Amino acid sequence: MTRKFNFKHITIVGCGDIGVRVSLLLQKQTCHVKAMARSGESAERLGAYRIEPILADLDDRDSLKKLNLTDQLVFYLAPPPGGGTVDSRMRNFCQAIGSGQVPIKLVYISTSGVYGDCAGSWVTEDTPVHPQTTRAHRRLDAETTLCEWGQTYGVSTPILRVTGIYGPGRLPIARLQQGHPVLKEDESPLTNRIHAEDLAAICLDAARHGQHAEVYNVSDGRPGSMTEYFNTIADLLGIPRPPQISMADAKTQMTPMMLSYLCESRRMANNKMLSDLRVTLQYPDLAAGLKQAIGQLAQPNMGYYGSMKSQH
Ligand SMILES: NC(=O)c1ccc[n+]([C@@H]2O[C@H](COP(=O)([O-])OP(=O)(O)OC[C@H]3O[C@@H](n4cnc5c(N)ncnc54)[C@H](OP(=O)(O)O)[C@@H]3O)[C@@H](O)[C@H]2O)c1
Repeated sequence: MTRKFNFKHITIVGCGDIGVRVSLLLQKQTCHVKAMARSGESAERLGAYRIEPILADLDDRDSLKKLNLTDQLVFYLAPPPGGGTVDSRMRNFCQAIGSGQVPIKLVYISTSGVYGDCAGSWVTEDTPVHPQTTRAHRRLDAETTLCEWGQTYGVSTPILRVTGIYGPGRLPIARLQQGHPVLKEDESPLTNRIHAEDLAAICLDAARHGQHAEVYNVSDGRPGSMTEYFNTIADLLGIPRPPQISMADAKTQMTPMMLSYLCESRRMANNKMLSDLRVTLQYPDLAAGLKQAIGQLAQPNMGYYGSMKSQH
């Protein structure tokens, strides 16, 4: 069902895979969508989706001063920079956008990583945050900076703590084909997922119903082990399941980034997302989502992001 959308002027900050999906949904509602592009190449890519590019870079505060977001709805979907414990991009954005330029509302995509390891227990929005990686610290810094800015300028800033995104072009196919190992089932952490198309729709639901500085966990609510996830995809593709190794061996064979994901286990509850944001999931479990994502592999044009992200 198409629900009416009250915002007409939209700016997307960080318009990659999810941004383009959000934009396609908005265009169906005849909204005009602009998005930040930090290079001519990005501007050209956005243009192909009928998104008006604004040349600016979150790493260059001066370039942000020309942004006038008055009366706009903003989706801030850009990741923090690669190092440190603060999100200098979010800080630049908030310092550059002052009175007379501020939007009505800003929906921010954060991550469930801010909760840290929860030893496989259920996590609600009331669970205390406990970031354990610098990556998670940067996200928390972004959330805090944004909420304070929103408070100062009267901008509503709902925060989505998003779990692992999967979907067309976002499956670990190359990893499986290269035979990278996974953890033994009994040592594998619990992970949580959301389909990319559902996430895009949830961004619009958050724009409609999200409240200032409120946090919403975004997940399909069906946690499963990471090993099970890889095995399921391998089975659906008809390729060999990945070899399984112990955590002790993983510590010598896997990258620090991969290991950091394996050291955190959570079951993400999505009740608040479903009730307060009035979300109806199109892909309520992996079976439905993977069927769609793998079905799209057979289609010749998966789009720029589809073809790019499947390489990872
Ligand atoms: N992968 C997951 O499972 C997961 C889970 C939770 C949350 N998230 C977060 O969800 C958000 C959306 O994901 P996505 O897949 O759509 O990400 P994506 O495809 O990588 O898009 C990110 C966009 O941010 C832009 N960007 C990066 N640095 C910028 C800068 N300095 N100035 C302006 N723009 C900048 C990029 O621009 P260019 O096009 O020029 O590169 C890109 O368009 C991201 O913040 C991601 O970290 C991801």
